[in-house]
Amino acid sequence: MTLQEKDHAYLWHPYQAHTNAPSNRVIVRGSGSLLFDESGASYIDAISSWWVNLHGHAHPALSAALARQSAQLEHVIFARHTHPPAIALAEQLLALFPGMQKVFYSDNGSTAVEVALKMSLQYHQHRGEDRKIFVALGDAYHGDTFGAMSVSARSMFTQAFDRQLFDIIALPSVEDEKQLEAAFDAVCARQDIAAFIYEPCIQGSAGMKMYGVGLLDRLLQKAQANGILLIADEVMTGFGRSETLFVSDQLHTSPDMVCLSKGITGGTMPFGATLATSAMYSAFAFTSMDKTFFHGHSYTGNPLACAVALVSLKLLLDPQCFAQREMIARLHQQFVDTLQDQPQATRIRHKGTIVAWDVDSAEKGYGSPLREKAIPYYAERGILIRPLGETMYILPPYCITEQELTHVYDTTISFLQDL
Ligand SMILES: Cc1ncc(COP(=O)(O)O)c(C=O)c1O
Repeated sequence: MTLQEKDHAYLWHPYQAHTNAPSNRVIVRGSGSLLFDESGASYIDAISSWWVNLHGHAHPALSAALARQSAQLEHVIFARHTHPPAIALAEQLLALFPGMQKVFYSDNGSTAVEVALKMSLQYHQHRGEDRKIFVALGDAYHGDTFGAMSVSARSMFTQAFDRQLFDIIALPSVEDEKQLEAAFDAVCARQDIAAFIYEPCIQGSAGMKMYGVGLLDRLLQKAQANGILLIADEVMTGFGRSETLFVSDQLHTSPDMVCLSKGITGGTMPFGATLATSAMYSAFAFTSMDKTFFHGHSYTGNPLACAVALVSLKLLLDPQCFAQREMIARLHQQFVDTLQDQPQATRIRHKGTIVAWDVDSAEKGYGSPLREKAIPYYAERGILIRPLGETMYILPPYCITEQELTHVYDTTISFLQDL
């Protein structure tokens, strides 16, 4: 059997119809923004492999950090034990978020969200307040575990599980500002709201929906004034994807918790972190065991992930990486101007290193046939992309070259014209 045949025989891939599905491409190597398949053909990773990769594939400094740490300490139970990389990483993350004082580690974006949701509920319980309802933006996506699904929009992603999800207040879409603000005022008048969870200014899975700092700031200020905890889900937006390192840096209201994952290790190791304020932490200051925070994963605080995250952060804060992000943002802006002349591209939007547009399609939503047209078209031209329904976007690793980006732009124009 070929590798593809074995893959088909043994593996169950996510978000993929089984029957008549095209074979999965076997990737054997990565270097910079390129991925290489079995035949040696290369693909520009224009979506940073589901938004995780920052500095390129198989980055020598990240693989060296991983090798060094694995020879030193690969893992240790994180209850009653700690280790230098976990401490150093927490110190550095907190330095980036002046409003936060504690870091809780987990494994991925969904678990970083689960942790924040559970912390919120227990925080109110400990304070004797009956606040159990979560509020989320319309079209939200916060992950695939049950809590994260519950605070996400009910959609094709959740429909098989809807009856098991807990009730939340789902706000109108960020595109209906007036309705959203009115609904939010009604929410703020209630006394039973535990927390408001939001993807700051860019809702990735909703189709790279972008909304303004001003609107979000108004919502956050109102929520905070009414005792509602704020959970910033920066799983996608964090680590330089938008104009600043984190979108929260652009807002006037500091959240109570921040969820981080994806880019935290530069795309090398699965990892998550939930940052919390000292006020959150203080609400758990009891000696009795039943008031501790009952959440922990076997791999919590994994030293390999922490060690890689430390090096990834160093690379991220290097002026050279900053210059690369500026270059991407500048070229994206020029590309936006070119896209405006393409009648097939609508709702063109851009923030930092992300540019997105919609393609007119009769069938809207995640099931849009656009994906089946676009993925092979780009792959034949050496590019990996993956539309979100009728939305297409470019979200590249920061190491991408001008030449590679230009190839992705040119391919996009020819794809639109060939439609
Ligand atoms: C904003 C946001 N939160 C949470 C998640 C879930 O992250 P993970 O896939 O690592 O569980 C995602 C994933 O796309 C996301 O975009």
